[in-house]
Amino acid sequence: MEEYENIYVEEGNGIAFITINRPEKLNALNKATIAELHEAFEDCDKDPEIRAIVVTGSGDKAFVAGADISEFAGFSVKEGGALAAKGQQLLFDFVENLSTPIIAAVNGFALGGGLELAMACHFRVASSNARMGLPEVSLGVIPGYGGTQRLPQLVGKGKAMEMIMTAGMVGAEEARAWGLVNHVVAPEELPGFCESLAQKISKNSPVAIAAAIHAVNAGFRYDTDGFKTEIEAFSACFGTEDFKEGTTAFLKKRKAEFPGR
Ligand code: COA
Repeated sequence: MEEYENIYVEEGNGIAFITINRPEKLNALNKATIAELHEAFEDCDKDPEIRAIVVTGSGDKAFVAGADISEFAGFSVKEGGALAAKGQQLLFDFVENLSTPIIAAVNGFALGGGLELAMACHFRVASSNARMGLPEVSLGVIPGYGGTQRLPQLVGKGKAMEMIMTAGMVGAEEARAWGLVNHVVAPEELPGFCESLAQKISKNSPVAIAAAIHAVNAGFRYDTDGFKTEIEAFSACFGTEDFKEGTTAFLKKRKAEFPGR
């Protein structure tokens, strides 16, 4: 694995932990961090040994406190557009559509681009001290990394409108009640809890999981037909070694060992 400046990657037992490591700036996403995250996610996705990824922030205060405000404060209209488009392409859309499952371990503030990153992940677990929000309108701007789209998908339009318009934060329990995070655990339990979820995932067929991610995402896009995509992805599974192994193992009453093909 590469050496990075703003993140670090740890691997073991088929799981990669990617930690955003700018604690003095509450892990705010600057351009360099976005580029490094792209590279790390791509490398993990290409590595057949890695069956699940957990992304988190360093320190005990923040997951990510947003896009780095100091980087875009002086931007023009054109530069603002390019910032959002490039960021969505390199990180947020990329993460959402990665074949390898990604869990966001939300260990503190997840604001603006931080909540947008957590929402682009396949699902989220929060520590009890986590605080989440999209405060962009308090800066005179709107969420630009997919927040206006993914927040309503997760919590519904009315709650999303309220969160965006008030620029307020919700705590972990409220976020769970709203469907924004799946679980809330004590801060010290967060890495272990996410690791055990990732281990559970890693026992299943990576080919089937990738197909499921593809099919679920297809239903949330305007330019794809989710049901049609599901039929195609379902059908493709029948041609995989994983399907042969999974069904054979079941019928022979043994545990499946998926080759990932
Ligand atoms: N971009 C750039 N720097 C950020 C940042 C961001 N999104 N969020 C925090 N930081 C920096 C602060 O400027 C500060 O740097 P400094 O020590 O060099 O002055 C450092 O991180 C610590 O943050 P600080 O504000 O002192 O911590 P706090 O505990 O008082 O407040 C927050 C925590 C999260 C409430 C506050 O940092 C905040 O509101 N951040 C911005 C959130 C935001 O609007 N995000 C959306 C961006 S689009």
